Amino acid sequence: MLIRINIWIFVIFVLTVYVHCSRELNDKEKRIREGTERKACSKFAVLPQPKSRINTTERLIALRNVMSQPTQLEDSLSLQAVLITSDDEHQTEFVSNYDKRREYISGFSGSSGDAIITMDKAALWVDGRYHLQANDQLDCNWLLMMEGISYVLTQAEWLKLQFPNGARIGADPKLISADQWNTLEYELKLQSDNLYLIKTNINLIDKIWVNHSETEQEKQAFTLAYEFTGKHWKNKVIDLRKELKKMRAEAMIVTALDEIAWLLNIRGRDIPYTRFLKSYVLLSQTEIKFFVDKNKIDNNVTVFFNANISGITDSTVTILDYDSIWGELATYCQTWKSVLVPSSCVYSPGASKRVYDLVPDRIRISRPSPIIYLKAKKNAIEIDGMERAHIRDGAAMCKFFEYLETRFSEEDYWDELKVATEIDRFRMEQHLAVNISFRTIVAFGAHGAQPHYEPSKTTSQQIFDNSTIIIDSGGQYADGTTDVTRTIHLGTPTEAQRNIYTRVLMASIQLSTLIFPDNLKTSSVDVLARAPIWEIGEDYPHATGHGVGAFLGVHESPIRIHYSGKGEHFKPGYFFSNEPGIYLRDFGVRLENVLQVIEKPHIKNQYGHSFLGFKVVTLIPYSRKLMNLEILSLQQRRWLNEYNRLIREFVGAELKRQNATRAFYWMMENTNHIPEYGGSSIITSQPLHILVLTVIFIKFSIVVLY
Ligand SMILES: *[C@@H]1O[C@H](CO)[C@@H](O)[C@H](O)[C@H]1NC(C)=O
Ligand SMILES: *[C@@H]1O[C@H](CO)[C@@H](O)[C@H](O)[C@H]1NC(C)=O
Ligand SMILES: *[C@@H]1O[C@H](CO)[C@@H](O)[C@H](O)[C@H]1NC(C)=O
Ligand SMILES: *[C@@H]1O[C@H](CO)[C@@H](O)[C@H](O)[C@H]1NC(C)=O
Ligand SMILES: *[C@@H]1O[C@H](CO)[C@@H](O)[C@H](O)[C@H]1NC(C)=O
Ligand SMILES: *[C@@H]1O[C@H](CO)[C@@H](O)[C@H](O)[C@H]1NC(C)=O
Ligand SMILES: *[C@@H]1O[C@H](CO)[C@@H](O)[C@H](O)[C@H]1NC(C)=O
Repeated sequence: MLIRINIWIFVIFVLTVYVHCSRELNDKEKRIREGTERKACSKFAVLPQPKSRINTTERLIALRNVMSQPTQLEDSLSLQAVLITSDDEHQTEFVSNYDKRREYISGFSGSSGDAIITMDKAALWVDGRYHLQANDQLDCNWLLMMEGISYVLTQAEWLKLQFPNGARIGADPKLISADQWNTLEYELKLQSDNLYLIKTNINLIDKIWVNHSETEQEKQAFTLAYEFTGKHWKNKVIDLRKELKKMRAEAMIVTALDEIAWLLNIRGRDIPYTRFLKSYVLLSQTEIKFFVDKNKIDNNVTVFFNANISGITDSTVTILDYDSIWGELATYCQTWKSVLVPSSCVYSPGASKRVYDLVPDRIRISRPSPIIYLKAKKNAIEIDGMERAHIRDGAAMCKFFEYLETRFSEEDYWDELKVATEIDRFRMEQHLAVNISFRTIVAFGAHGAQPHYEPSKTTSQQIFDNSTIIIDSGGQYADGTTDVTRTIHLGTPTEAQRNIYTRVLMASIQLSTLIFPDNLKTSSVDVLARAPIWEIGEDYPHATGHGVGAFLGVHESPIRIHYSGKGEHFKPGYFFSNEPGIYLRDFGVRLENVLQVIEKPHIKNQYGHSFLGFKVVTLIPYSRKLMNLEILSLQQRRWLNEYNRLIREFVGAELKRQNATRAFYWMMENTNHIPEYGGSSIITSQPLHILVLTVIFIKFSIVVLY
């Protein structure tokens, strides 16, 4: 009852705000609200289209043709709308080319965004990271719904406006998380009694996608040795079973690919940049069923799963066909009394609607996967591996920066794509390099205004010496995953560029130096990073940080640092990124390091909390010429000097080992000691300056007098 009343209060509130807003909005805001504020899409003139757009007219016609024909839908009724998400069956963040259905229908290539297509309209919802990119990539068939702007229509509101008399909205239950489905269904219910979300029997995009086929590349699975994982998979299974007992779950279905990769110490080649293997795992206290395409499993993997290790009661992995999960899950659910079906948690969307529905309500436990927490807490061998990977990564970046500066000064032609290609090449030369960890971001000048701009053949811009270049890149090494951003300038930066850079640097240092009680929420530390940026009236439209895996995903739950988030707790052994930025119209700055959560055992408080702190594992020099030392505090300068000392010690040794003399000298030059008192050449502290001069003068006078 209480809930019901609350819902009504909420509805009245929403309606009030809605009515209020619609009265207040000016014409442009109204267009933004409805998604019609588009670049180069005038109704009155044919304008030249951005090069990154593809014409989706034919594809939309084909899709609508299927929507309107029940026989093609293998259903008895037609659909008035379809929802196309960016998910694959495992709700993976970056999907294989085969699974880029949302990109196929819309032309938008970002990692997240939902498309809804009706018989006469097509709309795409994207978050703040992608507003600019989506506007460039969507052709004029599309409405752009910029999530994060308060008055933009939600999917449910928009659908209600399109269909005042109701509609059937289709979606593929495998390609949407249960949480997203259930939330949307609830919101539709609030809007109207006759807007129905329908599980389609077929995938509509698969039906219309011309030349939709798997790439021919090798897909073999491979196993990871103890020297990288630090824990046998059987021990991980024992830990997981203990967690399941605590949750009173008899069994669990594991759907997230990073969780399976971690649990079984197995990797694959199904997902770009992340070595995941498309599979499902059903795990009970006695059994482990592994559902995977058997063609990807060779004898080495089978031997690995059958090997005996001393001291562990035997458990084996039964390998079954990927598609048999549906039948097996349904069968097991007839005997199991409680099954954990993962719900969403930070970057993990949880199981698909299809999986969720196969497990009957009475036995379903819907909670975040306990593997998230087991995996995030790296063991000693993984920590060691992460550190070593970051040192080699630092060496690769120093080699690259030295190379770029030399060749640029010799008037080589450079554009963003060439920078990205060269960085990737330097990384891949490193020991244990497997691939890069995501598509390298290189954003020169105005491209730096888009936090997630990725250069492509159509957008790559020539690089000059008059603006900043944001370089955000990382590597997958067998012993660890890296993710780093540096902003550089190849000429003489303006004062504005230096001040903005320094603000971002201050933000980064402030967060790195925090020492805190272990019950602090991850979301609480966000203000520390943002404060120096808020102080000048700026902000950044993304989280300050995300968890990072060990030779796993570059975005890993449970850490997400954003003040709007619920927040989890930091645990020693967690790794996460610290990446504040400022994005202006002409240029941008972002700086990113990976931090490790460590114990501060010497500090205790009287309330019984132990204390934690951070260790910076990324060791790559900052740009000295972009710093305005005057606005850095004494502590911040000390921090920089200590950071530079670590780079010289660890990356220096690595560069020597690799005989990289020129990169070594470049690194030494860029990690020079900076004056802790006073400015570089400009004196910051006037009174101190006067005092020093006075002392010198007095001494001098005494000498002269004598
Ligand atoms: C897109 O393709 C359709 C049909 O092939 C064509 O009529 C239309 O002019 C094209 N639009 C643009 C902007 O090229
Ligand atoms: C599909 O592939 C065939 C054979 O490779 C090619 O001839 C055809 O042009 C392709 N169609 C499209 C729409 O790309
Ligand atoms: C790295 O991954 C990308 C995307 O999957 C792939 O195209 C590329 O060939 C890979 N590079 C190497 C060296 O394996
Ligand atoms: C299987 O193991 C053998 C021996 O360790 C190794 O030489 C071979 O390369 C492995 N095969 C694959 C596909 O990893
Ligand atoms: C593992 O141990 C079991 C029982 O102790 C034995 O039957 C089996 O052959 C062993 N497997 C291997 C690969 O050594
Ligand atoms: C930077 O220099 C290039 C080449 O001289 C010029 O085309 C461009 O407009 C300049 N950009 C800015 C922001 O001054
Ligand atoms: C570095 O040079 C030394 C001496 O020339 C040589 O022995 C060593 O193998 C070289 N190391 C690498 C990584 O090239």
